[in-house]
Amino acid sequence: MSDAEGAPAGGRQDVWTEKYRPQTLDEIVGQDGITERLQSYIERDDLPNLLFAGEAGIGKTTAATAIAREIYGDDWEQNFLELNASDERGIDVVRGRIKDFARSSFGGEVQGYSYRIIFLDEADALTSDAQSALRRTMEQFSNSTRFILSCNYSSQIIDPIQSRCAVFRFAPLADDAVEKQVRKVAAEEEIDLTQDGVDALAYAADGDMRKAINALQAAAVMGETVDEETVFKITSTARPEEVETMIQTAIDGDFVAARSKLRELLVDKGIAGGDVIDQLHRSVWDLDIDDDAAVRLMDRVGEADYRITEGANERVQLEAMLASLALEAGDQ
Ligand SMILES: Nc1ncnc2c1ncn2[C@@H]1O[C@H](COP(=O)(O)OP(=O)(O)OP(=O)(O)O)[C@@H](O)[C@H]1O
Ligand SMILES: [Mg+2]
Repeated sequence: MSDAEGAPAGGRQDVWTEKYRPQTLDEIVGQDGITERLQSYIERDDLPNLLFAGEAGIGKTTAATAIAREIYGDDWEQNFLELNASDERGIDVVRGRIKDFARSSFGGEVQGYSYRIIFLDEADALTSDAQSALRRTMEQFSNSTRFILSCNYSSQIIDPIQSRCAVFRFAPLADDAVEKQVRKVAAEEEIDLTQDGVDALAYAADGDMRKAINALQAAAVMGETVDEETVFKITSTARPEEVETMIQTAIDGDFVAARSKLRELLVDKGIAGGDVIDQLHRSVWDLDIDDDAAVRLMDRVGEADYRITEGANERVQLEAMLASLALEAGDQ
């Protein structure tokens, strides 16, 4: 979804994900265990280096900035440096900026604080050599700085860094957490949002709050009430029932009907094949099939997913999957 479509004119502050980004740890929804522990570090004035791991749009950057706001109040921006590790100019540039920032706070208290915070996003984009270099930099400035590293997969972070950090694994947000936040945004923006619209936002977002709020904003621009239909359309998501019907039809042996349903999703509705696979993956256990059949289906979903990721034609892969399900029905 492009910003031009999604957001009204008027600049960044009108992007709802920014406008409604929680400012305090308390306002972050759905990550209670994590925010409580972070809060207690702040209260004890004992912040360790931190490693935040988890998928996109679930509150990692938000938690880091909330920590800075709680510690430094209005001065937070002077005491918080945000860097992106995947900066294409390389680890040396990143380390250079870390050093400059850390040195400028070196030699004593920074406006009454004993350390400043460096937030390094996408730390898993660094090679292990670059991470080793980073680790030395972290040690060199351990008196005057605290690091918060953020990544999607903590397994990509070398052990010596992990062991120097308190590791927090952020989980994809539960539907009720997404619901709570989108309702809040809708209320503030005076958007008429139906219950099926809320459910559709939670389904389409699949745990990603950024996606949910962006979808709400894009749907709201179209005016009128935001309901399930608008949400599925704007997010190019199939209704779960549509995917389930398609698969059930194939399992019942009617390949031709299943194939035309697939065509409707891919061609008429413009849904990406990879997204159909993702949705199918989420639906497998909701289908009216026995466990053995579900296991076989899951196996095929995995195979199609892999092939599509490797560049195979999406439609061919999905049709082949439907064909093999239909053949299986014929064998029985
Ligand atoms: N747990 C949450 N509670 C409330 N709002 C959230 C939460 N997580 C994300 N958001 C909303 O989504 C936006 C993006 O979240 P954030 O920047 O924290 O994602 P992230 O986890 O750092 O993702 P990425 O891995 O893509 O950097 C925030 O500006 C905020 O509006
Ligand atoms: Mg982030």
